[in-house]
Amino acid sequence: MSAENTSIDHLLTENRRFAPSAEFAADAVAGAELYEKAETDREGFWADQSRELLHWSTPFTQVLDWSNPPFAKWFADGALNVAYNCLDRHVEAGNGDRVALLWEGEPGDERRLTYAELTDEVKRLANVLADLGVGQGDRVAIYLPMIPEAVASMLAVARLGAVHSVVFGGFSADSLRARIDDAGAKLVITADGGWRKGKVSPLKPAVDQALAARNGLGEQETVEHVLVVKRGENEVDWFEGRDLWYHDVVPQASAEHEAQAFEAENPLFILYTSGTTGKPKGILHTSGGYLTQAAFTHRNVFDLHPETDVYWCTADIGWITGHSYVVYGPLANGATQVLYEGTPDHPEPGRWWDVIQKYGVTIFYTAPTAIRGFMKQGRQIPQARDLSSLRVLGSVGEPINPEAWVWYREVIGAGKTPVVDTWWQTETGAIMVSALPGVTETKPGSAQVPLPGISIDVVTDDGRPVGNDAGGLLVITEPWPSMLRGIWGDPERFKETYWDKFADQGYYFAGDGARLDEDGDIWLLGRVDDVMNVSGHRLSTAEIESALVAHEATAEAAVVGASDETTGQAVVAFVCIKENYLRAHSTEGLVDQLRLWVGEQIGAIARPRDVYIVSELPKTRSGKIMRRLLRDVAEGREVGDTQTLADTMVMSVISDQVAKK
Ligand code: WTA
Repeated sequence: MSAENTSIDHLLTENRRFAPSAEFAADAVAGAELYEKAETDREGFWADQSRELLHWSTPFTQVLDWSNPPFAKWFADGALNVAYNCLDRHVEAGNGDRVALLWEGEPGDERRLTYAELTDEVKRLANVLADLGVGQGDRVAIYLPMIPEAVASMLAVARLGAVHSVVFGGFSADSLRARIDDAGAKLVITADGGWRKGKVSPLKPAVDQALAARNGLGEQETVEHVLVVKRGENEVDWFEGRDLWYHDVVPQASAEHEAQAFEAENPLFILYTSGTTGKPKGILHTSGGYLTQAAFTHRNVFDLHPETDVYWCTADIGWITGHSYVVYGPLANGATQVLYEGTPDHPEPGRWWDVIQKYGVTIFYTAPTAIRGFMKQGRQIPQARDLSSLRVLGSVGEPINPEAWVWYREVIGAGKTPVVDTWWQTETGAIMVSALPGVTETKPGSAQVPLPGISIDVVTDDGRPVGNDAGGLLVITEPWPSMLRGIWGDPERFKETYWDKFADQGYYFAGDGARLDEDGDIWLLGRVDDVMNVSGHRLSTAEIESALVAHEATAEAAVVGASDETTGQAVVAFVCIKENYLRAHSTEGLVDQLRLWVGEQIGAIARPRDVYIVSELPKTRSGKIMRRLLRDVAEGREVGDTQTLADTMVMSVISDQVAKK
């Protein structure tokens, strides 16, 4: 972004507002006083939250140590055990019989684990891992489907003061190898396979491949053992001496295991995320600060009443959302939650709604891409289920366009549930920007306000606040408890990526464009590399996508800035059409209609040069649209690396559809 012109053209106006109902507010966990407390004494606020939400074996006396920025320490002289906080203490408090996990496998099998049972499992597994030589600071790679053992594995590693590195089960053997090598993992926990889309998707073979000599690499040297959960019942190769079946060793192990306390800054996990360069970054999180903010946000943002709520976050544990809002936040808070193994549409498109109805889910947290997918299928599918148990809906991962937000509230939330759009990143560890249900009047499409105790601003390229009604770059201006503590093994890259840009101000640079509206509410505009410059005007891909999705025909849209001789960049849109619409209309003239529509919604400057109607958009396994590939198509280049796509065929389909036009 240029230094001088910092206002991102924002021509789309959203006037709908949803005030919290009086009934909801009366019983809400969060209250407006949280903001006041945090405002008066930010560090004192976090210290209070931490003492209230967690059990400290050695109470801390220090809060933030920022003497060596950007390397923060929180609660540094305190000690705690993260797994004890998520398990034993709930049992000791008399809640051992409360269900922790309501698990459902994709084929329909079920398991329910109470807090007492899960604690037991984790203690046994911790004993097994300790026998295999895992101790404080050792790294353990976890490559598992969404089964209770995945949650137990993370907690057993944490219980020993060791460090887990969860690798999403959809990643290839090569990616797994790179992550195992980078972390120097001593042990891998995997499964034979897991269920996905009606069949077993093998995992153990990828681990075998990852550890073998291949692609010019020698045999992997740090991994001593592979612990294998039987889930898919698929045939697997076996390496005597290295491989162990989980069911052979865990049930037999002792269920006596006393959790030792570790210092607050003891590393808890590494989670790899892709950066601007090819090599993934190992984002490092530690214990006390991370758990404090995960628990605080989970409780307040989702209005958690642990005695009565049934919570469901659809994220895989391979992503940060699965770490903070499937494992650490909910379990630290003693929540009862659904854990579902499979895909949303197996055996048929209503599967998620069936799960909600069956378990009486009250709090539901998912991603805009999923919501738009459901919009595409039509409201008749969720409307055929009883979703009346729902009372809070959350969104995460990308900007949620107002149309999807309103559809979510109306169709899924019966027009009454608060919707919280939560902005955060792998690096931030926990939610940073979100409405608080029962407190905030919500605005579709805006993530709105920094949480209490979090300091966020939108600034120009040289770090000056843009003020209301202007756009710029999102920064975090003060350290926060769950902030990343570094990039594993690469302190220089940590500084360079996040801190060098605003070194003078000491701000954390998030890499996202944002805009403050007249009320000072935050609108996320996508990664800064997704902000286009058309004839000197800044336009956000998210904003144009939002306009396209607001058209009755559109299910989903992706917009890229393609280089253009006259305008610098031109807007190129890829649009999927709703099935219901296609049943009733032809697509003749639709491309022109959509171009005009965007012009009407935003302004002529935003009118796409090209609109391509396609049957699908290219997405990563975590559901992010890969605009880079669409830009290649839009600019008539050969399509780049499609390795990270969930479906690698989708690009050739799109190229054909574009060529036919
Ligand atoms: C984007 C996921 C708009 C953003 C928790 C961020 C969002 C990146 C939102 C982090 C949101 C996440 N509104 N954009 N509510 N939430 N993002 O590390 O670009 O997988 O920088 O963490 O997702 O993605 P990550």
